[in-house]
Amino acid sequence: MNFASDNIVGASPPVLQALTQANVGAMAAYGGDEITRRVKARFNEIFEREVSVFLVTTGTAANALALSSAVPPYGLCVCHREAHVIDDECGAPEFFMHGAKLAGLPGVGAKLTAEGVSAYLRGLPRAVKQMPPKALSISQVSECGLVYDLGELKELGDLCREHGLAFHMDGARFANALVSLGCTPAEMTWKQGVDILSFGGTKNGCLMAEAIVVFRPELAESLDYRSKRAGQIVSKGRLISAQFEGYFAGDHWYENARHANRLAKLLSAGLSELPGVRLAWETQANEVFPIIPAAMDKALKEAGVLYHPWTELSLPAGETVGPNEALIRLVLSFATREEDVHRVLAIARSASSRQAAE
Ligand SMILES: Cc1ncc(COP(=O)(O)O)c(C=O)c1O
Repeated sequence: MNFASDNIVGASPPVLQALTQANVGAMAAYGGDEITRRVKARFNEIFEREVSVFLVTTGTAANALALSSAVPPYGLCVCHREAHVIDDECGAPEFFMHGAKLAGLPGVGAKLTAEGVSAYLRGLPRAVKQMPPKALSISQVSECGLVYDLGELKELGDLCREHGLAFHMDGARFANALVSLGCTPAEMTWKQGVDILSFGGTKNGCLMAEAIVVFRPELAESLDYRSKRAGQIVSKGRLISAQFEGYFAGDHWYENARHANRLAKLLSAGLSELPGVRLAWETQANEVFPIIPAAMDKALKEAGVLYHPWTELSLPAGETVGPNEALIRLVLSFATREEDVHRVLAIARSASSRQAAE
């Protein structure tokens, strides 16, 4: 039973079927094919306006290239200090930004607030010696499983306008956030001021397909060249596009995300009922972050349940993890089986009753 992440599973069947179909025959290379044309048009429909789309193979590439088009080499990009871009990409954004830096700010649940960012910006010295802020990057879903609501996004979008920052959204779990909020892709992005988006497909059913979606045309100007220089213009590009075709068909991507989010709620509700268990952050998408007794942690591990310990860095004020407790992350995917969630709950319950009996 593997709850380590949502990329520990393969691709979902409609994505594979679309790939098999796209596999037949000869088509133009490097994205000059008919499937890529159709998929780009589909992105326009999804976002209810003309967007520029660049297909890439990893979320790291999407983030690094998106930020490189938004931040000049002497600029600063503000993000949360636990953001994937600063913490988990081996410096790729800084490498592709050619000298620009990421500035990591604190914030509960790995989220930034307009107030916090504004205070940081006000406190920045403005002199030629200092790097000027040029972009803000947020993760939607955040690294602690939280979702920015539309009001929070609008506040951040307005702040970006006020300070002349490009607003980047790392949407590795875009679909999970979308079904959590029950809004449209347009409402969750450009309508709140997002300028450039890393649109994730891999975690929610694709084999390896991510897209950079650009809402501010000037940010798209250099992206083809940047992508090529990063080795991200895939020669058999139709096989990346076909994944998105299968992913979007019949709203399959929404179904996948609904499934993962529903199971996360089920797991979260079942765990939080148990004595000694509490949630570090509310379960809003497809990740569950319980603080559990050490004995339960041991029992789950002994039963072969796989998951990661998590950092306490962004806990709410006053919350701590005791010496006999563990803060863990369990991730649910489109392919997680409901019976496995019940099995984990049964193991946790029996660990809990054993502890009560001792
Ligand atoms: C918030 C976030 N952004 C981006 C990514 C994409 O990273 P990768 O380069 O592994 O596709 C991930 C994957 O773990 C993620 O959690």
